[in-house]
Amino acid sequence: MTNPAQLAYLEAMGIPVWVSRELVLDVPQEQLTTVAPDVKEDAPCAESAGAILQAMDEATLKPSGKMETPAAAISNAPDKQLMPDTITDCSSMAWQTLEQAVATCRLCDLHKTRIRTVFGGGNQQADWMIVGEAPGAEEDRQGLPFVGRAGQLLTNMLAAIKLKREDAYIANVLKCRPPNNRDPLPQEVAACRGYLQRQFELVQPRIILVVGRVAAQSLLQTKEPLARLRGRVHSLPGSAIPVVVTYHPAYLLRKPADKGKAWQDLKLAYRVFLDA
Ligand code: URA
Repeated sequence: MTNPAQLAYLEAMGIPVWVSRELVLDVPQEQLTTVAPDVKEDAPCAESAGAILQAMDEATLKPSGKMETPAAAISNAPDKQLMPDTITDCSSMAWQTLEQAVATCRLCDLHKTRIRTVFGGGNQQADWMIVGEAPGAEEDRQGLPFVGRAGQLLTNMLAAIKLKREDAYIANVLKCRPPNNRDPLPQEVAACRGYLQRQFELVQPRIILVVGRVAAQSLLQTKEPLARLRGRVHSLPGSAIPVVVTYHPAYLLRKPADKGKAWQDLKLAYRVFLDA
């Protein structure tokens, strides 16, 4: 990535450029001194994100070797007792079967209101997995994760740590949109858990970045508030895969002043990734 492009990403995220010093990315010192007094008001538009992507002229950082995370090290369902009786056992499903199971899923009432299921997508051998809460209106229409405005900001957040969106695997805790984007119900999360669990097993990521309180609490099986979940490294229950929590991009669109804190989280995730 060229330095100007990287700076453009950071700017598009609305974060002060000074923070990248610690990340030891390839930005020369003199280019890090621009400190915007305030974060930008809003997220980048689709066109600017697209233009920035076009400007990329170098591959994102790829790991020297993929960490072997034995599928067996990941428990199939950390709390099987929460699963509805009828839950499909996904533990040996290949990608196609799993996707088909999701597409035809009727385990909870969300199948009655969804337009399409949103299975997830990206690089199935990714080192990074990004996990969000649930599809929104646009995702429900397109059947793809993070394609709305929040998705555009997510793309820029990833680019700020030199990660091309298509190099990551992106999925949600829920595969169907809750009506009016309400919070997922516990039984919906339980019904969907096996699908995401199997996605983890198939991808075997080196790191998981979780966006938003709901996804973080459900993945880490905790009720701790987001403020306490951010800023430290967790591991996926039943496995050694590190998990870093940050704000949901939809929240950052509403509260851009917190983009600086999100950048701290991204830097933490990046450091963990390098160590993994
Ligand atoms: N918000 C999410 O959590 N996931 C999506 O896919 C879109 C918006």
